[in-house]
Parts: sequence; C-alpha cells; structure tokens
Amino acid sequence: MTKTVLVSGASGFIGSHVAARLAEDGYRVRAMTRHPRDYHGAGEPVEADVSDPGSLTAAFAGADVAYYLIHSLGSDDFEQRDADAARSFTEAAAAAQVERIIYLGGLGAGDGKLSAHLRSRREVEKILKSGPVPVTVLRAAVVIGRGGISWEITRQLAGRLPAMVTPRWVRTRTQPIALRDAVRYLVGVLEPVEARGRTYEIGGPEVLRYVDMLQRAARIQGGRLPNLTVPLLTPRLSSAWLKFVTDVDLATARNLVDSMATEVVVRDDAITRLVPGEPIGYDEAVRIALADR
Ligand SMILES: NC(=O)c1ccc[n+]([C@@H]2O[C@H](COP(=O)([O-])OP(=O)(O)OC[C@H]3O[C@@H](n4cnc5c(N)ncnc54)[C@H](OP(=O)(O)O)[C@@H]3O)[C@@H](O)[C@H]2O)c1
Repeated sequence: MTKTVLVSGASGFIGSHVAARLAEDGYRVRAMTRHPRDYHGAGEPVEADVSDPGSLTAAFAGADVAYYLIHSLGSDDFEQRDADAARSFTEAAAAAQVERIIYLGGLGAGDGKLSAHLRSRREVEKILKSGPVPVTVLRAAVVIGRGGISWEITRQLAGRLPAMVTPRWVRTRTQPIALRDAVRYLVGVLEPVEARGRTYEIGGPEVLRYVDMLQRAARIQGGRLPNLTVPLLTPRLSSAWLKFVTDVDLATARNLVDSMATEVVVRDDAITRLVPGEPIGYDEAVRIALADR
C-alpha cells in the first residue's frame, strides 16, 4: 500500500528535496508548512506550526511516517523553542500512531563540548526518542547544496573575501556531505525495518578542515584565497564580521559558526551498508551546488 509521508520543513533546504524525492518515488507526500499558500513544492501542502500543538493533529491525520526537518536557529531562544517543538511533534506522532519519525540532526561527539546549536540538535533527538514512536536519526555535518545556510556561508566567504584574518575554527575537521547524498540516505532509511530506532552518521567521502573547504570552494569559483593561517579570532567574534561578508541571517549564522569549533566527523559508517552507493566528493558537490544557482 502506498505510504503517506508527512514532511515537516517541506519548504526548507533539506525538506524540499526530501519531499520531491519521495513524490518521485511514488509516496503520498503531505508537505507541512506554516505558509501553505506560499508553498509550491512537491506534495500536498498542509498547514501546521510546531509551536501550536493543536495544529499538528490535522497535519498528522492519515500519515504513516513523519520527517522532522525543522529548526528555529534564527531565534535567540532556539534551544527552548526547538525542545518544545520536538515534544509537541513526538506527542502528535504518537497520537496519530505513525510507524516512524525520521530526523536529521547534527554530527559531533557528545562529550560535553558541543556548541549550543549542536547541543540543541542532540536534545531534539532525545526528546523525539522519548515517545513511543520509533525514531531513525541521521546526523550530518554541513550539507552542500544551493540554499543550505552553512554552505552559503562557506560559498560567500570563499567568493568574497580578498584576504582574511582567520578564526580558530578554520582548523576544525568536518565531513561535508552533498545534498544529493543526504537526501538519498534520508529517503533510503524509510522502508528498512532495521532502521527503526537506529542512529546513523552520514558524511561525504572526505574529512576536511574548514580552511580546506574554503580554499577548494574559492578555487572552484575561479578565485584563490591567501594562505589562511592566523588563528586569532574566537568563533563568537568571527560571527560579528560574518555579517559584512554574507547575506545569511546573522542570528542563524552566529549559531552555526559557534558550532564550527566542534569536530564533526563520521565515526560509524553503518549507513553505507544499509543504503549502499558511492557518495559524491566535496569538489563535485560544490560544482553541483554552484551550477544550481
Ligand atoms: N542545512 C544543513 O547543512 C544541515 C546540516 C545538518 C543537519 N541539518 C538539519 O536538517 C534539518 C533541516 O534544516 P534546513 O537546513 O533544511 O533548514 P531550513 O532550510 O532553514 O528550513 C527550516 C524549515 O523549518 C520550518 N519551520 C521552522 N519553524 C517552524 C514551525 N514553528 N512550525 C513548522 N515549521 C517550521 C520552515 O517551514 P515554514 O517556514 O514553511 O513553516 C522551514 O521549512 C534541521 O533539523 C537541521 O538541523 C541541516
């Protein structure tokens, strides 16, 4: 029987591509958004706001599976908001007796050194799992694709900076993933029964420092960044100058940049056996993201 899949965050960077891929694969997609009149993506738009638990009942009606692809990083109190939102979502999922929630969170070892943003993503994971509905968690670092906020910060820094006094985070190791692969994994865990209740780490084939990401993105855009070496600025300070070089919402950028001090690398590659396929390399992912513009 054709499954009905509720995609929250369907108007967003990740959710829009997940909704499109699910619809292509023949699923019935309910695209959850606060602004259904402005929604032109795949699936049938359904209006709901996670901060209004009552609105979730209608969105969940008849859904078999629900994707949780929401955050409120642009708000000062995002930790509280996102925790409350996850609680409402998991309760609505339980009431509707959906068979599974699928959530995309953040990579990073949970050793107490996580930024507020990554801590919050982990907290959301815990809250979603506290309900009776089995959750499949995917954890990713930066997803490379047009419109992804972390990628847009990288692209704009690499493309616009003539020279740069580098913040400490440029030496942090990370494992970016192409949008196409992130979506492939998100959709690939939907059917396998063994993915119920499991947490998977997803990443591209290369572990890079942010400085490598910036320099390689600059080269692909036809420029060249000077050797970036001076670890002077703290992440908090560096986000203040971010606003001069990127057009990304500053509150969101600041929260994301704070996370760039945390190493985000895949430690467990179980996903590559569950959803086989060759992930796209960083340079190719950048070329695809740039060509999409
Ligand atoms: N982008 C990355 O590089 C990356 C990397 C790792 C993990 N992730 C994770 O992927 C998920 C999606 O991120 P994204 O980059 O796709 O985000 P995004 O483009 O900023 O989209 C956020 C979505 O959240 C929805 N939303 C926000 N507040 C809402 C509310 N109160 N009620 C209902 N919907 C609400 C928005 O929908 P409406 O405005 O239409 O309501 C929007 O579609 C997040 O969990 C994020 O942590 C992303």
